[in-house]
Amino acid sequence: MQCRRRHCYARIAGLLAFLGCVVLLIFAQHIWLTRLKSRVMIEPTFKKEAATPASPTRFLANGTLVSTQPVFRTSVGPNRSLAKEENAESILKVEPYKYIINEPDKCRKNNTFLVLLIPVEPHNSEARNAIRKTWGNESMAEGIVRLFLLGVKNTTRDPGMRDLQQRSLRAESQQHRDMIQQDYVDSYYNLTIKTLMGMHWVSRYCPTAKYVMKADSDMFVNTEYLIQKLLKSNIPREMYFTGYLMRGYKPNRNKDSKWYMPPELYPSGSYPTFCSGTGYVFSGDMAKRIYATSLSIRRLHLEDVYVGLCLSKLNIEPILPPNEFLFNHWKVSYSSCKYSQLITSHEFRPSELIKYWQHLQKNKDRACKTSKGQMARNMNAETLHRSKVLLNPQ
Ligand SMILES: *[C@@H]1O[C@H](CO)[C@@H](O)[C@H](O)[C@H]1NC(C)=O
Ligand SMILES: *[C@@H]1O[C@H](CO)[C@@H](O)[C@H](O)[C@H]1NC(C)=O
Ligand SMILES: *[C@@H]1O[C@H](CO)[C@@H](O)[C@H](O)[C@H]1NC(C)=O
Ligand SMILES: *[C@@H]1O[C@H](CO)[C@@H](O)[C@H](O)[C@H]1NC(C)=O
Ligand SMILES: *[C@@H]1O[C@H](CO)[C@@H](O)[C@H](O)[C@H]1NC(C)=O
Ligand SMILES: *[C@@H]1O[C@H](CO)[C@@H](O)[C@H](O)[C@H]1NC(C)=O
Repeated sequence: MQCRRRHCYARIAGLLAFLGCVVLLIFAQHIWLTRLKSRVMIEPTFKKEAATPASPTRFLANGTLVSTQPVFRTSVGPNRSLAKEENAESILKVEPYKYIINEPDKCRKNNTFLVLLIPVEPHNSEARNAIRKTWGNESMAEGIVRLFLLGVKNTTRDPGMRDLQQRSLRAESQQHRDMIQQDYVDSYYNLTIKTLMGMHWVSRYCPTAKYVMKADSDMFVNTEYLIQKLLKSNIPREMYFTGYLMRGYKPNRNKDSKWYMPPELYPSGSYPTFCSGTGYVFSGDMAKRIYATSLSIRRLHLEDVYVGLCLSKLNIEPILPPNEFLFNHWKVSYSSCKYSQLITSHEFRPSELIKYWQHLQKNKDRACKTSKGQMARNMNAETLHRSKVLLNPQ
């Protein structure tokens, strides 16, 4: 190739500059990758890197979820207000708790529509029995899976008690096949661990479940109405999370409060939107998303806030339910009409639950006949809400 000398120099200089840029880029990428790797090594469950590009996470044979990439890097533009919490990652410890009681085959049929996850204290068999007879009855509809979530009661003062209790739990489990238990201390402050156990179970043993509801053991749940609502075509099949929305809440800094949140654990001044932990509903895919994300978020004891943090990191906003009367985290005064059109009501003793449930079953077909006006008002409210949801860019 012929070229004039000056022209040639310019070309060569250009080429050199270009090569320099490429080398610089490769170098920068190398540094970035090494940093990323060293970051990953901090987190115990991410140690095993496997080449499965299709799925960012997978389970080992023993149930440990491993990630092929650091989870929180995959979230697109994490919320700024979470930055400080994310920095707590270096002291993060993900403890894999062992299953003491498990039901790995409960979901085998692959037709699960709704999994009910119910945290309950080991000694509270009365609540479990009431739920089995009422809203947790699996025979109510095809595809319901009921699962009680348990830890191990702290009975250090009397080690003999632990054996006794464990034996009676095993017997109950043999009879009903609806309990799972892991070896962490069952306490109010460990509710987050309990919820995550449920998320782990669904993602590992029931990944094709359509929907999941987590509800406390002192709740009234109108399962039939919930299923009806979920079957509506406008309810998303994926990335769906709903319940009683708690918006704009700030951490409670009063040390005497049940909801106290130490600034060392959660420095920022506000919580992301979360759903009241009394009862929330989500699409089956969310279990794995939440569980995987939780591996990179420091465990906080307020489980509903914690799940909200996971959602925020996933950039998934909880969605308003179809109408505002569905999820209640207080006790709604009973009437068969009202209870035939709600999903949750709170603070039920087992005997009360059975009483209300039986009354509702007897009267549900004509629950609202006497009050057509009320029904119309409810429908109006529902329509109004729907349009609000539609106007809300989610
Ligand atoms: C599961 O297996 C992996 C790899 O064999 C191991 O690193 C991990 O500790 C195990 N987890 C449990 C809970 O046994
Ligand atoms: C259940 O569904 C999964 C995913 O669709 C499929 O791979 C599996 O073979 C199914 N199992 C049964 C028992 O039908
Ligand atoms: C569950 O529901 C079925 C069908 O409605 C009923 O026959 C059964 O007695 C119920 N089970 C319990 C434990 O109440
Ligand atoms: C377990 O119980 C003992 C004695 O009642 C108490 O000192 C200890 O703090 C408890 N541990 C937990 C984790 O609750
Ligand atoms: C939660 O469970 C873990 C594992 O058993 C235990 O070490 C811890 O003390 C428990 N925390 C509380 C506050 O009960
Ligand atoms: C982050 O969360 C806060 C509090 O929930 C909210 O006000 C803010 O709009 C969010 N920012 C982004 C970028 O999502």
